Amino acid sequence: MRKPKVFITRLIPREGIDLLKETCEVEINPQDRPLHREELLAQVADKDGVIGMLSDRIDAEFFDAAKALRGYANFAVGFDNIDVAEATRRNMPVSNTPGVLTQATAELAWALLFAVARRIVETDRIMRSGAWPGLGPLQFIGADVSGKTLGIVGGGRIGTAMALMSKGFQMRVLYTNTSGKENQTLQAELRARLVSLDELLAESDFISIHTPLTPATRHLFKAETFARMKPAAILINTARGPIIKEDDLVAALGSRTIAGAGLDVYEFEPQMTAGLADLNNAVVVPHIGSATSSSRAGMSLLAARNLLAMLQGEKPESCLNPEIYA
Ligand code: DGY
Repeated sequence: MRKPKVFITRLIPREGIDLLKETCEVEINPQDRPLHREELLAQVADKDGVIGMLSDRIDAEFFDAAKALRGYANFAVGFDNIDVAEATRRNMPVSNTPGVLTQATAELAWALLFAVARRIVETDRIMRSGAWPGLGPLQFIGADVSGKTLGIVGGGRIGTAMALMSKGFQMRVLYTNTSGKENQTLQAELRARLVSLDELLAESDFISIHTPLTPATRHLFKAETFARMKPAAILINTARGPIIKEDDLVAALGSRTIAGAGLDVYEFEPQMTAGLADLNNAVVVPHIGSATSSSRAGMSLLAARNLLAMLQGEKPESCLNPEIYA
């Protein structure tokens, strides 16, 4: 029997590749960069299954080009790169990788929060430059974290994990949820309060974004939003870049409308908006939320298991359009 042909759009950790190779013919993008659109469309023309990255747009044009496709597995939990409605219309199963990167992403949110609050990157630069004149009582004053108010925008898996990690810092936790439903874990463990975005903006000392990118959350944070935050507030984004209107953020950080920001994701990834790199009150890292060995290995295995299930006509573990199996 012919082995199914699988294409992986970037080299991923070997765990998933090894699993796929047991039963499939596996081809991997040999370049250490995302494929250009034409390269991607040409590569998928004869493939039964594809594992792709969030930089790959999975839409009607992709499905038209992938004529033999029986399933698409995203190597990411976020899936704003996939036109799920279009996939469903075509009866094409699509999947993502939830769960395996929850702790790693929540930990990165905390790393950014502390880096901004305690000016870690700015002061590291000063040490390396040799410009530190020695300890001074008025130098490099940062923000306290313990006892402050943490606002979680999006109390899903990663938002919940991030909030739970605040326990050691005795913080008051507020959160919003797109479902409008109370999060029982946050309620029970932290006595966290489900609030409106307005209340969260007005009350929080730290705001961490964990909501998916949708038409409703695109530019949720813009000039008007920053104006409603405390001037001492610090904003953290490990979710998706376009949730923040980045030129408004540059202006708000520059004018000290808000005190700081820690960013893992960018509106026009991989580019940063002009001016952001010059701001000492911004800490910027290159989309490394899930970049730990166990998370990436977990993503690799989960994406492979999802794809194998789809190739066998079965519902994958983390299916984005389960209704097609009904
Ligand atoms: C995701 O999984 O959505 C992250 O942003 C990338 O690992």
